[in-house]
Amino acid sequence: MKYLSNSKTLLEQKSSCIATSLKHAKKMARDLGATKQFNHAIRDFSDKQGINLCIQLDGKIERIFVIGGVSSDLSLDSFRKLMATIASLIVQMPIREATFDLLALKNKEATWEKLIHEISRAISNAAYQYNKHKSQPTKKHSVKQIRFHGPDIKTQKFHSAIKFANALEAGLQIAKDLGNEPPNVCNPNYLLKESRKLGKNRSVKVSNLNESKMNDLGMGAFLSVSKGSETPGQMIVIRYNGGKSKEAPIVLIGKGITFDTGGISLKSPAAMDEMKFDMCGAASVIGATAAAIEANLKVNLITIVAAAENMPSGKATRPGDIVKSYSGKTIEILNTDAEGRLVLCDAITYAKSFKPRAIIDVATLTGACIVALGSHASALYSNNENLADSLEKAATESGDKAWRMPLWDEYQANLRSNFADMANVGGREAGSVVAACFLSRFADNENWAHLDVAGSAFHSGPRKGSSGRPVPLLFKYLQDQQS
Ligand code: BES
Ligand code: MN
Ligand code: ZN
Repeated sequence: MKYLSNSKTLLEQKSSCIATSLKHAKKMARDLGATKQFNHAIRDFSDKQGINLCIQLDGKIERIFVIGGVSSDLSLDSFRKLMATIASLIVQMPIREATFDLLALKNKEATWEKLIHEISRAISNAAYQYNKHKSQPTKKHSVKQIRFHGPDIKTQKFHSAIKFANALEAGLQIAKDLGNEPPNVCNPNYLLKESRKLGKNRSVKVSNLNESKMNDLGMGAFLSVSKGSETPGQMIVIRYNGGKSKEAPIVLIGKGITFDTGGISLKSPAAMDEMKFDMCGAASVIGATAAAIEANLKVNLITIVAAAENMPSGKATRPGDIVKSYSGKTIEILNTDAEGRLVLCDAITYAKSFKPRAIIDVATLTGACIVALGSHASALYSNNENLADSLEKAATESGDKAWRMPLWDEYQANLRSNFADMANVGGREAGSVVAACFLSRFADNENWAHLDVAGSAFHSGPRKGSSGRPVPLLFKYLQDQQS
């Protein structure tokens, strides 16, 4: 999907479809000299949410799409819901382009930029299709362009809102495609190959640490996860220099378990296929990085993807094994299914070598996170109030919700081990918090945050598929961090 601004007046520009409110539609019909036709068409229409009407006209404006129940008093959540419905109707229409009349859709809680963000996100969600592996693909949507018409078209803010919408679209597309790719295709090498594509940009460099390099560095925690698999693990590093040369970078880290069987602590078969989504953290940081590059954000960004496959085999790690992490701390692995924290802890230690101003890791880390928050919010943890505030703000403003969770010392006790510096799991209680506490031990004094996206990164059930989250949150955060 391509987002554009409608530079002429609404009725001057040719359009296959203009989406607007009843009030604005009436005026438009009058200006087009189509009042009679319009009044006839809306005879049975009631201006309520859920009721929408597409009126065919002849002339430059081919259709007016009347959205029922538009009011500037709608809460942002209701506005989002309304736009989700409208978007799913519009993308299925047999047209190449549609225009949104922002003046008609004005909301008291939202600026024009925000409206563009919300509508483009709704369209992007509705328009996404993943047909790569179907021999008879479902019919492709024909809508390719969305135009926005607003009062401030010529301003810089309007222009950047459109630029950001297109960049976010690109990032979401990458994140969703990577997430949906089956695990026999999307393995650590595939993530490396896809990350390398970002290296086409002059300000981007992509490199990797293979297993032998990780072994030399002493990344025993990471390697304990990948060693059961026939496909070697990769630590992928993407550097984007968009900011001032001396400015400390922001580091994003993504959990990239391309398939999580649980290892020797094997998972039960029900829904195990969904563990192909265990690399959605990685997909989201790659997607957010792609969006930042596309938008030319003025930030220095280092993105680390901890990519491995968690498999049981004769070479796999056993429960009871003790490994030494890159930090030097030793870990007793009591459950090989708590593998995300093992790859992440070495990635966090590695991130410190870049002297970053913030480290943010994103991971489908715990089933317990889904029990706590369901799929509506990602769980946010941080050892730094400023960083937590910035991420909460980005979550609220992007509509990609996150909820702050505690990292209190009390929870740390759960990780006690009789044999090593710590165990990799606590008991049954507070699983998402304890996992975050485990990671916090490796972040130490760095400004660090962790997003547990086990519930938000993908849908289960009939809508099974990657959601692309938290790309919108991360991209908004990066926009706000520009110098
Ligand atoms: N990848 C899973 C977490 C997960 C579960 C994500 C369901 C999305 C949906 C993670 O590696 C895992 O298996 N965690 C264990 C931790 C436990 C052994 C402490 C879990 O949640 O059961
Ligand atoms: Mn696991
Ligand atoms: Zn996992």
